[in-house]
Amino acid sequence: MTTHEVGYFVGSLSEESINRTLSKSLVRLAPPSMHLTEIPIRDLPLYNRDLDGAFPAEATALKDAIASVQAVLFVTPEYNRSIPGALKNAIDWASRPWGQNSLARKPSAVIGASPGAIGTAVAQQHLKSILSFCNSPQMNAVEAYIQFKPGLFTPDGEVTDESTEVFLRDYLEEFSSFIARVLTVLPPEEA
Ligand code: FNR
Repeated sequence: MTTHEVGYFVGSLSEESINRTLSKSLVRLAPPSMHLTEIPIRDLPLYNRDLDGAFPAEATALKDAIASVQAVLFVTPEYNRSIPGALKNAIDWASRPWGQNSLARKPSAVIGASPGAIGTAVAQQHLKSILSFCNSPQMNAVEAYIQFKPGLFTPDGEVTDESTEVFLRDYLEEFSSFIARVLTVLPPEEA
């Protein structure tokens, strides 16, 4: 069995982020065919195209981290019906310099948690639009809009509700299959 290396982004910088808690659950529940590693975005400066010729070390590290994985997973909050600026900033760095878009042909999936009933659905639509422009093949289904209710997850990411755990396991299995399918037709060496 092949194990795919998957880098994940947490769109929130908050120490108490519910999306970080969700990411801990995903790490716990990932199938053996998937190994999840965080790609940090916290220390990135704001993107400035004047630096395209001399990327700061944090941005180079981001691009190297994306290059080292076979797929990426976005775990994002919804801020004002879109994605947080910190996450958009990371994607902007990853997409540049022109002609060296790190997300091109990189399989991706999106998930997010909110206390609200629509569970980041609008932010995810925005993110999917951005990832389309970045030419990242995206998993369309399973969609995962997580309503974060008190007690649903322990702080270290244990899921307390069986149906949620089954759903997250299924989501990750589907993503794993999706990655395998994409890499079959788009082997990284030809990307
Ligand atoms: C929010 N929140 C929010 N929730 C939502 O469902 N839709 C939204 O558009 C917004 N907008 C929004 C804007 C800003 C600036 C903040 C700080 C918050 C609430 C949000 O879902 C909640 O704070 C989550 O806990 C944020 O996720 P993290 O940071 O805990 O992972």
